[in-house]
Amino acid sequence: MVQAHNRRAIRGIVVHCLHDPGEGDNADAVEIVEDGLLVIEQGLVACVGPAADLLPQLEDSIEIEDQRGRFILPGFIDTHIHYAQTDMIASYGEQLLSWLNRYVFPTEGRFGDKEVADETARFFINELLRNGTTSALVMGTVHRQSAESVFQQAYARDMRMVAGKVLMDRNAPDYLLDTPDSGFRDTRDLIERWHGTDRLSYAITPRFAPSSSDEQLQRAGELAHQYPDTYIHTHVAENLDEVEWVKSLFPWSRSYLDVYDRFGLLRERSVYAHSIHLDDLDRRRMTESGAVAVFCPTSNMFLGSGLFDHDRTHQQRVAMALATDVGAGTSFSMLRTVSEAYKVGQLNGSSVAPLRLLYLATLAGAEALDIDDRVGSFRRGREADFVVLDPQATPLLARRTAYADTMQEKLFALFMLGDDRHVRATWLRGQPALQKDES
Ligand code: GUN
Ligand code: ZN
Repeated sequence: MVQAHNRRAIRGIVVHCLHDPGEGDNADAVEIVEDGLLVIEQGLVACVGPAADLLPQLEDSIEIEDQRGRFILPGFIDTHIHYAQTDMIASYGEQLLSWLNRYVFPTEGRFGDKEVADETARFFINELLRNGTTSALVMGTVHRQSAESVFQQAYARDMRMVAGKVLMDRNAPDYLLDTPDSGFRDTRDLIERWHGTDRLSYAITPRFAPSSSDEQLQRAGELAHQYPDTYIHTHVAENLDEVEWVKSLFPWSRSYLDVYDRFGLLRERSVYAHSIHLDDLDRRRMTESGAVAVFCPTSNMFLGSGLFDHDRTHQQRVAMALATDVGAGTSFSMLRTVSEAYKVGQLNGSSVAPLRLLYLATLAGAEALDIDDRVGSFRRGREADFVVLDPQATPLLARRTAYADTMQEKLFALFMLGDDRHVRATWLRGQPALQKDES
């Protein structure tokens, strides 16, 4: 008998990826235990297996949470989201550049105010948890306070989070501009304060090439070199007008991505939201450098930005992850995001397989953020961040699930029809961080 050591267990349909299942549905990459047990010790995964095998080995006193019939998945990982855009999500009628000017910049202008930043960060983190998201790469605003607030709130909830203050010193209203010097200093101070504090890490965050001068991009590159285990987080090649604008602002560049490359911003732990209008040479540079391309389907469709090429990105072995990109993205739900990713694939001539969708929402995000040794799967020793999903939460999904023959079919239906209503609970490091009342 194994001794009790701050242990507890959850019983349900345990599903997680061990590896990338690839373009097909390589079942060996995924463990599915229909009546499974996830055993947690000191906040870490101790083991996963069939309940029938594990229950007899556990001490009688162990607390077992019975979630039979519900899915237990690693928490979702959202690799690109703007917390300060929570209040202007779903703003009508523009494409990227006019949308930024009309809706985003006025909203972000409020985040120098500590009260606004704290209150929004609190709501934002709760909304992530309500949707089963346990880690995120978060873009703040130009204000140092915006990063302070989101780090403090994540810390208070014991959430694994990467975030940063935006660098932007041109092509935006004055009230949103920093300078190469102030941006450098604030970023350095925030790195020193937060990077590596508990579950938190820092991302050096130039908003996008058009809103930073050459000098600012160069100083961002210096920081990226000086602090090699920080992240770099920005946007690239989202919209065709934006691509043209970059060409005119940086006439020497071969491509939009090349601008970041010349300033030393392409390396391991660099994360590029959208990555739609890239060519094969760009993708090759991303692969060589270890940069990550982030697929933001709800955002790309909402702003009419274009169709991310999942298959080409995968064929060229570019690391890829999935994100909501709220507030251009229209949902905090990674379930809804997975569903839209599948539809974008269909429009692009590929049907992204169900297990690959699972991978994109969980382990791929962990790999993209280089935290797959901590979260993203239920391998032994991983931090027990997970979500409990209830297919019975809505009548249609309950009915569709009853009709499904296989677990993969049930999972796919959950991905296509699921949203925050199906999230029963979200756990962080072996503790319930959010539980919804059973009604
Ligand atoms: N490019 C530069 N800033 C932004 C932003 O806030 N959202 C999106 N979707 N693209 C951007
Ligand atoms: Zn974005």
